Amino acid sequence: MSSVLDLARPDLRALDPYVPGAYEPGMIRLNANESPWRAPGDTTERGLNVYPPPRPFALRDRLAAHYGAPPEEILVTRGSSEAIDILIRGFCRAGQDDILICPPTFDMYRVYATIQAAGIVRVPLLRREGRFELDTPAVLDALGGRVKIVFLCTPNNPTGQSIPPADVEAVCAAASGRALVVIDEAYHEFASTNYLDLRRRYEHVVLLRTLSKFVSLAGVRCGAVVAAREVVEYLGNVLPPYTFPTPSIELVLEALRDDSLRVSAERIAVIKRERERLAQALRDVPDVLEVYPSDANFILVRTRDSALFRGAAHRAGILVRTFADPAVADCVRITVGRPEDNDRLLEAVARTERP
Ligand SMILES: Cc1ncc(COP(=O)(O)O)c(C=O)c1O
Repeated sequence: MSSVLDLARPDLRALDPYVPGAYEPGMIRLNANESPWRAPGDTTERGLNVYPPPRPFALRDRLAAHYGAPPEEILVTRGSSEAIDILIRGFCRAGQDDILICPPTFDMYRVYATIQAAGIVRVPLLRREGRFELDTPAVLDALGGRVKIVFLCTPNNPTGQSIPPADVEAVCAAASGRALVVIDEAYHEFASTNYLDLRRRYEHVVLLRTLSKFVSLAGVRCGAVVAAREVVEYLGNVLPPYTFPTPSIELVLEALRDDSLRVSAERIAVIKRERERLAQALRDVPDVLEVYPSDANFILVRTRDSALFRGAAHRAGILVRTFADPAVADCVRITVGRPEDNDRLLEAVARTERP
């Protein structure tokens, strides 16, 4: 019977993973060459003088409950960026396999593929009626051959729109037995889509989630892969033990308590409200030609001159993002901030001056 791991690198499937030393609370640890004393200022519960657990199992279990997936189908990573890296390293042989991306999209797919010497097949998004759309027939045509991973980012960074679920489903159905489909849901909590059901139905579908956005923990670097159990086990051959730091584990567990999640939910509601207000107000800015719809915590606008727009924001002490990709070279991506930050931005760009 065929398995999703037939898509994995054969050399890595055979790898004997590192066996970490035992950790048993209450025992004197003379097995891991650690310091027996805590460092000054170490206020963590576990103690930073000892290694973190090889995998953050308590955190994994809590995330599993939060996402509604079995713990064995979750791998905690240092940001979802690390998840992108280990998926590419685990499934693409250098010089032999490709990833497929739909630009303009999150640029780290390209970067990690290049580091791994994997090829990159690009199927650009189509610009249609004020939105960017997946070219689904072209993605389906490009499947097969060397493509081992299709990255679908929804909502997409930097365009902001979600891919229609029927299109995501069509790609997943067509890729079965041919490639992994990685659905990057970094902005899931600001949108209304959820691909857990698709993940359950297809063993080659992988979801990426992150704690960087919705629980205000970009600095902690916590992401997660949600994948079939054998994919998670296999990725354990690529991701070494002890990568997830103790302070991050303890802070994320704190952020996933019910009372903390209530605060996050209120903040998400504020961001969504501000997203609509900001989008509406940006439509009245003379230098803004188009405001793209957004299901994320940012808005992409097409401007008369993106450098000029960025300069006006900068003079008011605000950083916004511009891009080299020609499809969005005249665009600016604006993260939705606090109401007062958004007001300040609107004021700054309302009177954009030409040099
Ligand atoms: C679409 C997308 N995926 C993944 C990431 C990586 O996020 P992190 O590594 O912070 O989890 C980002 C960051 O902005 C993103 O926009």
